[in-house]
Amino acid sequence: MEAKIVMSGIRPTGFLHLGNYFGALQNYVLLQQQYPCFFMVADLHSLTTHPDTKELKENVHRVLAENIACGIDPNQATLYCQSHIPETSELYLYLNMLAYKGELEKTVTFKEKVRLQPENVNAGLLTYPVLQTADIILHRASLVPVGKDQEQHLEMARNFVARFNHRYGIVFPEPHAFNFGSNLIKVPSLDGSGKMSKSENQNATIFLADEDETIRKKVMRVKTDNGPTSEQTPKPDYIENIFLLMKLVSTEEVFNQFEVAYNNCTIRYGDMKKQLAEDMINFVAPIRSKAQDLFANKKYLQEVMEQGAAKARQSAKSTMEIVRHSMGLNY
Ligand code: TRP
Repeated sequence: MEAKIVMSGIRPTGFLHLGNYFGALQNYVLLQQQYPCFFMVADLHSLTTHPDTKELKENVHRVLAENIACGIDPNQATLYCQSHIPETSELYLYLNMLAYKGELEKTVTFKEKVRLQPENVNAGLLTYPVLQTADIILHRASLVPVGKDQEQHLEMARNFVARFNHRYGIVFPEPHAFNFGSNLIKVPSLDGSGKMSKSENQNATIFLADEDETIRKKVMRVKTDNGPTSEQTPKPDYIENIFLLMKLVSTEEVFNQFEVAYNNCTIRYGDMKKQLAEDMINFVAPIRSKAQDLFANKKYLQEVMEQGAAKARQSAKSTMEIVRHSMGLNY
């Protein structure tokens, strides 16, 4: 049996943050050592919500730079840009004939975007999951490392694949969301109101591009209290959060030291936050500076994109030959 293929897309909007790192990127870096991986910058998808392309190029460059700085190796994984693969658009067209208006209108992300941009409910928005399916099955990938919010899109992808295979012969494997089991880490936001996210409270999110002083300020603002007054006190949510964050970036020794201090009621949250801030800085600073260097090196980014596009198109081309043949479009 051939090795399973991994494929995922990264939207070129906003800056990456610690949630992206621990929730996704860290796992991509492991996956690239075990599977053939296709990691794609979804620039076409961004047109469904951001028709103004003034900043697109810069955003694509930044996403590439940040991903490489986090450990994605363009010589190991295929790292490419969606719009460089014209085969995607062809497959998207065929799949659109197998996708029904009713099911597309019921998609949660579609309804959410209709609410957010009622003045621009375009057909691309409606068929967003069809384009995403094309991205995945263009490489006949079956493992799709994505977060929970993408599960419905993957379910739709399986439906489109089943319809295609049923009508034209078995060409595509079923794609499944690949969540890393015990490796799936949710990074809480600094204000304890959910997880770190680029769209919500920016002060509660640590970005990989944040300067040292910004990180210090954000961490020192985190809510605490006077500490427990008796042993065996369960931790309130906002304190548990600080421990969770510390577990990600601090050494075990440091973590345990504060755990002990909590349990014997000698903990000083000011000290704990100072330590957390410094450990976060030690974690983020090397990634930030690497990403900055890569971002400034346009020639290198260009080479990465060209090399990625060449590898991705090779895989796309062989799939599309099978697709056209099985659809009877071979005259
Ligand atoms: N829709 C995904 C997101 O919002 C991005 C994406 C585009 C994607 N194409 C993909 C994810 C293919 C996985 C596979 O994050």
